[in-house]
Parts: sequence; structure tokens; C-alpha cells
Amino acid sequence: MVDETCKVLEHEDIGAGYRSLALAAPAICAEAQPGQFVHVKVPALEPSALRRPFSIFNADAASGRLELLYKTVGRGTLALNAVKPGDAVNVMGPLGHGFPTTCAGAPLLVGGGFGVAPLYFLARMLKASGAEPKLFVGGRTKADLLALDRFAELGVEVFTATNDGSAGVQGLVTDPLDDEMIRLKGEGKAFELFACGPDPMLKAVALRATGSGSKGWISMDRHMICGVGACYACIQKTVRGNSRCCIEGPIFRAEDLVW
Ligand SMILES: Cc1cc2nc3c(=O)[nH]c(=O)nc-3n(C[C@H](O)[C@H](O)[C@H](O)COP(=O)(O)OP(=O)(O)OC[C@H]3O[C@@H](n4cnc5c(N)ncnc54)[C@H](O)[C@@H]3O)c2cc1C
Ligand code: FES
Repeated sequence: MVDETCKVLEHEDIGAGYRSLALAAPAICAEAQPGQFVHVKVPALEPSALRRPFSIFNADAASGRLELLYKTVGRGTLALNAVKPGDAVNVMGPLGHGFPTTCAGAPLLVGGGFGVAPLYFLARMLKASGAEPKLFVGGRTKADLLALDRFAELGVEVFTATNDGSAGVQGLVTDPLDDEMIRLKGEGKAFELFACGPDPMLKAVALRATGSGSKGWISMDRHMICGVGACYACIQKTVRGNSRCCIEGPIFRAEDLVW
């Protein structure tokens, strides 16, 4: 883990309250694993204000380019909107435990909203290991389906679902996921599930993993303060008792989670 002052390379509005932020962060990129997160000090907030945690959307060790994808939801993310290319932003990371980057069966990645953020880096690493990940992404509406062009560039097959039917199937992301799980089971093929998104979606995916006897890797999003294990703000209940999301997580095995 390093504490790095990073130059802002790009900061773009990608619609519907989402933004992408690219930073020069060679030291963080050199260590980053998919599923880990960074803790960003937002420049316009007072020094005592807390950092904000964001998943690593992409970390390119060769160029040192770190990419984040975030939704503006409150004071910290609103203040972060103001940073411009050339500004300096202090970032701590990479933090927490990430996803495994090899997979025994077919990797099925499931995301919702900004939950696709750690799944892009994961898909890139899985592809590099020779696996063929598929992405299942859901949202209320088409505007919540983020970074689909980036997944397409990687050659990842994408299945979409929206509540209002504005893109993909009308319904939940678990609808196309169930179809694929049934297809793979029918062909006697193994799969593993990797998920990040809102809690109800994570629970649904975790239960599918345990119910089908497959491995499931779930990224838990808990409110964080210190990000390094000291404050116990980010507790997640597990079969082994309380775990800190920032240290033992944010990626947990599906069978370890207590809902
Ligand atoms: C490991 C981890 C990875 C994350 N990755 C991303 C990411 O890639 N992109 C992204 O947009 N966000 C991500 N988040 C959520 C992000 O950290 C919060 O949205 C952000 O801290 C809110 O700060 P704020 O000051 O703008 O909002 P606040 O003013 O603190 O809160 C505004 C609203 O957002 C809610 N909120 C606050 N923290 C969270 C949280 N952790 N999760 C969900 N809702 C929250 C509050 O309950 C409130 O309703 C991640 C969180 C964690 C723990
Ligand atoms: S955020 Fe402080 S212990 Fe996890």
C-alpha cells in the first residue's frame, strides 16, 4: 500500500451522475489487483474530512494510469467533481483483498451501476490468464449500464437487463444470469460467479453460488472511514464473526457471508 500524490489526467462526465477519473499513479498501479480499492482524499474538502473509497476500474502497470468510475451521491463525490486535469489528488492504495484472477470454470461477472468498476479490471486480468469472462450487467435504466464499450473492446460478451426495458431484457440482471447458469449446468460445465453492486443483487448472486455448489466472489460495499482496519466502521458479518470490509474484504467468498 502506498500514499501517492497523483496528477489528474482526465476527468469526464459520462452521464446520469457518473464520472470517470484518470490519474497518474505508477506506484499504486504497480501493486494493484482487481477488486482492490483506493482511498481518495478529496482536494476541496477540509483536511479533516474523510477520504472516500473507490474500486479500481483499471490499473495499467506499464503506463501508471489509474482509472476510477464514480457516481455523485453526496458531499465528497460532489466536491470531487471539481478536480481538473493537472490538479494533484492524494490517493492511498491499493487496499483490501481482491478477486482471484484465475478461474477453474467459466467466469460469470455480475454488476449493477458503479458495481461494474472492479469487474473491468478483473475481466482484463481473466482474459490475460486465458479465460473467457462473460458480463451480466443490470440497472434501472440504460444510463446505468456503464463502460459497455470498454468491455466490448476487451472482447467480453455482455448481457444486459434494465428495470424499464430501455436496454437488454426487461427485468433483473439475474434473469440472463440464470439462463446462462442453466445452459452451463446442462452442458456439465463448471462456473464461478464474481459480483459487485447493490446489496440485494449481491445476496441474489451469493445464494446462486452456494445453491449451485459453485464458487462465488462478492465485493461488499460498506461505509468506510479509515480504510486500513483501525476504526471498525466497515463491519460485515461472516460465518467467522465480524470482518472488516477494508481488510478482510472487500471481496468475500459467497459461502462466508451472513446476510
Ligand atoms: C470498497 C468500496 C468501493 C467503492 N467503489 C466505488 C466506485 O467504484 N464508484 C462509486 O461511485 N462508489 C464507490 N463506492 C461508494 C463510495 O465510496 C461512496 O458513494 C462515497 O464514499 C460517498 O461519498 P459522499 O461524500 O459523496 O456521500 P455521503 O455524503 O457520505 O453520502 C451520500 C449518500 O451516499 C450513501 N453512501 C455513502 N457511502 C456509501 C457507500 N460506501 N456505498 C453506498 N452508498 C454510500 C449515503 O448513505 C448517502 O445516502 C465504494 C465503496 C466502497 C466501500
Ligand atoms: S474503514 Fe476503518 S476498519 Fe474498515
